[in-house]
Amino acid sequence: MPSERVQQQIEKLREEIRHHEYRYYVLDDPEIPDAQFDALMNQLKKLEKEHPELVTPDSPTQRVGGRPREGFVKVRHSVPMLSLDNAYSEEELRSWERRVHELSGRKSVEFVCELKLDGMSLALRYEGGKLVRGITRGDGTTGEDVTSNVRTVRSVPLSVALEKLRKAGLPAGFEVRGEMLMPIASFKRMNEEREKHGLSVFANPRNATAGTVRQLEPSITAQRRLDFFAYILIASQESGGTGAPARAAIFFDNQWNMLNALDATGFKVNPRRALAKNFDQVWEFIGQWEEKRETLPYEIDGVVIKVNDFGLQRQLGFTGKAPRWAIAYKYAARAGITLIEDILVQVGRTGKLTPVAALKPVPIGGTTVSRATLHNMDEIERLGVKIGDWVEVERGGDVIPKVTRLVDDKDHPRGHKSFHMPEKCPVCGGNIARTQGEVDYRCVNQKCPAKLRETILHFASRGVMNIDGMGDALVTQLTERGLVRDIADIYKVTKADLLSLERMGDKSAQNVLNEIERSKQLPLERVIFGLGIRFVGERTAQFLAEHFGDMNTLMNAGEEELQQVEEVGPRIAKSIVEFFSEPKNRELVEELRAAGLTLRGKKKERGTKLAGKTFVLTGTLANLTRDEAKKMIEDAGGKVTGSVSKKTDYVVAGSEAGSKLDKAKGLGVAVIDEEQMRELLSK
Ligand code: IVH
Repeated sequence: MPSERVQQQIEKLREEIRHHEYRYYVLDDPEIPDAQFDALMNQLKKLEKEHPELVTPDSPTQRVGGRPREGFVKVRHSVPMLSLDNAYSEEELRSWERRVHELSGRKSVEFVCELKLDGMSLALRYEGGKLVRGITRGDGTTGEDVTSNVRTVRSVPLSVALEKLRKAGLPAGFEVRGEMLMPIASFKRMNEEREKHGLSVFANPRNATAGTVRQLEPSITAQRRLDFFAYILIASQESGGTGAPARAAIFFDNQWNMLNALDATGFKVNPRRALAKNFDQVWEFIGQWEEKRETLPYEIDGVVIKVNDFGLQRQLGFTGKAPRWAIAYKYAARAGITLIEDILVQVGRTGKLTPVAALKPVPIGGTTVSRATLHNMDEIERLGVKIGDWVEVERGGDVIPKVTRLVDDKDHPRGHKSFHMPEKCPVCGGNIARTQGEVDYRCVNQKCPAKLRETILHFASRGVMNIDGMGDALVTQLTERGLVRDIADIYKVTKADLLSLERMGDKSAQNVLNEIERSKQLPLERVIFGLGIRFVGERTAQFLAEHFGDMNTLMNAGEEELQQVEEVGPRIAKSIVEFFSEPKNRELVEELRAAGLTLRGKKKERGTKLAGKTFVLTGTLANLTRDEAKKMIEDAGGKVTGSVSKKTDYVVAGSEAGSKLDKAKGLGVAVIDEEQMRELLSK
């Protein structure tokens, strides 16, 4: 029997962890470093392991659980999930507002303005303060039970203390509705990963969110970093509910107070909201966020305006599918329909050929778009587009415009000219190759000028060496005139060189030189990323810098050692070794060093508990993804390799472990489970 003390200790830890999850995931304002948080979590996991009878579903350790057994079960909504009517212009919005005034018979009406988040709406049911169900909107009446995936989203509270609910004026049973979304950064990262592994990419964060929420494997959902914003609270109708909107009106008088109560209860409520006293203030909010839209970490497609007062909301009621008391003002579409006049081929830094649609110029969200990417041959086939076709083009956040769909109706005749990849590089005339099993075609000429241009552009770009002013126009001139023949040449450019170029005055030349000088201070990971090694993106560069601590050690590392680095598999390791086995590339690094670049970083301190021990992971672990387990072992100084040999010290086996387990048994290698691995770590 566990003593009361252990139970109290566990509860205290959980509360502490919940508090830090809240600080981190809801407020974006952590109080403690990640390592300290991990330590608390490990402490809790250890105690729960020793006292499995004390594990509860709302424990912070229980976010990633088993997969739903028979796919997703259909669930009826407590109250229908309605959608909103849209307004596309100031005129339409004004006429909605006039109607609200007329119907209400009041002189002044207050409105709540909220950003219209571009994700998918979800309903979360709580009973006794605990999350029991997450349901998609579905057709509005019936949705799908996606609880196991929703639980992995860290801004969704698994439980709310009853005391907190009481203070906020809420009952223990209630339903919260809001928007699930994928932040742009997570979206980009996910697509980069998918591209790296040869998988198809998601068109936009909204589709990615929907795809992720409907994943059958919750551990995948957990990795993809979704976020949830609450905007509606419904009192639970335990008596069965007549369908009458028993909205939060029972507990609150208005939308504004309801949002604040959700906020106080620990839900993530968008801080970008406003209480408007009149139409002018509504219009100001709309204008303000239209301008700042690009600065948000997620995509929005408009502003939702709601009548604040619940009494008035009831009075206004509903039309068929939407409330009269709310409306969505949609920002100018960031998609447009236009004609593909031609399909060109762009040569990237790695020699990759990207088909690009040359479009009949079309205004989309404030700019004129005349080019859109078609990604690769597979995508062209998937879309089924030919030159002369009409297509839909989308422009999201700071992403390159892309062709999303073929428009084929009576107003838009089909094109006839099929596109084929050229047999020679359109820039240098070099040979083109397609590696078996890969989607992409590449120019194999190492000296292709397009590669040089793109390599320099990449090196100078914002996330890399951040050399302001070294954009398209300047780099094209520098490379065409032979002033820059490789990355190191950037640091040899003189003022006279710059002044000899078109449209370059003394002041801008000096600015560029200052920027180049400044870039020398950037840390090792930026330089690694800047080298343009195939498959080495921003994250991998970061891991490499942390692992090796300086460029020399990285340059001399073999494939096996490279594979010890987080997220580096055989393919990346091979590519890095190939890169540094080329004498020209090694010379390049020496030249960068001579120019005074920082080729040292901060080596991450590693533990020594598992120093010298080699592990192999196999099967599905109960609470950890392989990457997480790998990181834990490595952080403790151990190594994780891919195959079992006599040199392996431990095989960590989860459920459905296959041949590696058999091999371990055959060789007499110690086989342990996740719990035993944790024990080794905590000894
Ligand atoms: S209120 C009855 N508020 O927009 C009221 N919806 O076009 C229903 N959405 O299905 C929704 N942000 O997915 C509301 N702040 C917000 C919203 C929002 C995004 C989405 C939601 C809804 C759709 C309606």
